[in-house]
Amino acid sequence: MKSLDLLRSLYSMASVVEARDAYTGGHCWRVAQLSELVAIEMNLDERTRLRIGLAGFLHDLGKVGVPDAILNKTGKLTDDEYEVIKTHPSIAAEVLKHHPLGDLAINGALAHHERPDGKGYPNGLSETQIHLDASIISVTDAFDAMTSYRPYRNGMGVDKALDILQQHSGSQFNSNVVEHFCSIDRHDIDAIVLHSDHHTPMQVCPNCGPVVVVYKEMEQGDMTCCRNCGGEFSLFIEQGVRSLKPTGGVATPEQLQPTADHKLISRLAHRALPLLKKDLTWWQKLVGTAGSSS
Ligand SMILES: [Fe+2]
Repeated sequence: MKSLDLLRSLYSMASVVEARDAYTGGHCWRVAQLSELVAIEMNLDERTRLRIGLAGFLHDLGKVGVPDAILNKTGKLTDDEYEVIKTHPSIAAEVLKHHPLGDLAINGALAHHERPDGKGYPNGLSETQIHLDASIISVTDAFDAMTSYRPYRNGMGVDKALDILQQHSGSQFNSNVVEHFCSIDRHDIDAIVLHSDHHTPMQVCPNCGPVVVVYKEMEQGDMTCCRNCGGEFSLFIEQGVRSLKPTGGVATPEQLQPTADHKLISRLAHRALPLLKKDLTWWQKLVGTAGSSS
């Protein structure tokens, strides 16, 4: 398999998880983008930056092993259900262990719920034991969860979310990461919050509220639907601003099927290619396709 296809397969796995939950559309992209912004702010080299972005996109891959009834539950989780949720970092590590490029994302995925005070999971690591990728993703994941819509609330404002990160700096979150996150240019953060791609704001379903992902490449008149209420919409674009117009119809079972944004996945995979160039030797040995880098 070519290197670009291998990268695409990694990104596609993460999209499967996201497609199951009507409320988390764009979460992988936002966590990836915000994590890269932190890496830039911390002056990390390009390779580390790209790896952290990739790991950010894949951090919740393990939710593929969490039942829908728990993953999409709107009420408070029972202790037993929370124990099931807590298995997702280890599930991700198990899946990534068997992917030829899984090493790139495994550290970020396995430890993104660890905390500097040792109260995190799955291993209760101490601050110095938590991998850098995971320390960054822990902060960007929490920030995106706070600023995104949930079934029971609207997204929190950016200022309030930054305040909360600072309140828990050093206990729940790595203080160095929080400090760098808070010094990122506000315009750069605003361009990511409630977006699912560059220049692509999330759309709110006019019927029931949850956010609807509209892919960057979609055009005027393209049909989409809300995977929560099943309402069908056509995309309306006026002076560059997109909105959803209800068609009055109900989405077909085919329209409601989870889909992956293959164009976004291809763009992300192309961008991540330099990650493989430096590791070409071990990678060529593994896949036996010497000289193939695209
Ligand atoms: Fe997670």
